[in-house]
Amino acid sequence: MALTSDTPRSAHPDDLGLTRRSQLTGLFGAFVSFALLSEVSCARPNPRMTARDWIDRHNELARALKQGQVSARSWMTEVERLAREIDIAELMADVNQSKLSAASKPPTNDPSKRSVRFIDASGTPRRLAYAAALFDFAPSNVITPHGHKNMVSAHLVTNGKFRVRNFDRLRDEGNGMVIRPTRDFVASTGTLSAMSSARDNIHWFVPKGGPARTFDVIISGLDPKQPDFDIAAIDPLGGRRMRDGTILAPVMSFEAASAKYLTSL
Ligand SMILES: [Fe+2]
Repeated sequence: MALTSDTPRSAHPDDLGLTRRSQLTGLFGAFVSFALLSEVSCARPNPRMTARDWIDRHNELARALKQGQVSARSWMTEVERLAREIDIAELMADVNQSKLSAASKPPTNDPSKRSVRFIDASGTPRRLAYAAALFDFAPSNVITPHGHKNMVSAHLVTNGKFRVRNFDRLRDEGNGMVIRPTRDFVASTGTLSAMSSARDNIHWFVPKGGPARTFDVIISGLDPKQPDFDIAAIDPLGGRRMRDGTILAPVMSFEAASAKYLTSL
């Protein structure tokens, strides 16, 4: 490993460089701005897209991303904005009308996955440029920290709430990833968490206070010359914490990750 001048030590769950308190401090200025904007927006009716338009807009964005017409960062910004345009109950009404296919239960502590195929007016499954899925979390299920290649995803909370932690993936090194903590927040219904190779590539979802669900938009195969996607579990809490705030987190198996990363972390 190249980062030998730094002192290796394990990280505590709240010692990854971005505690809730520091994030709240950093967000205070943004909150003031948001509050002012909210006051302005309260004066107007709140425009909401229909579920059909929202699904179509995601399709346009996914196609543009695949064709290189928008960057991954722009895609993330836009899907975060879109999340504020949809009524979750209306979206779920369309999801409930769609074709749902349950995946086999994984051997790990992951949530249950169901693929979502939206249908058109004639009842035919639609062909979209993205995959959609529901993830149902029992209170004990965890999506453990992991990184991705050649794909992006957006996770919209449709029920319950989660503690969501993100890290930028700065580079791969040996059998690990050099990562930097970026976000640590509680996402409740209507909040979206996105990831790409450009930012927040590592994510970690822990349900808080009961069962919870996300609706996911997933776009893989961004570079057709590469494998469709690559997903690897990592161990940020067992990694080497560097003086510059980065962490060299070893890759681990998903089974080992599920055994270690319980809801208590
Ligand atoms: Fe993921």
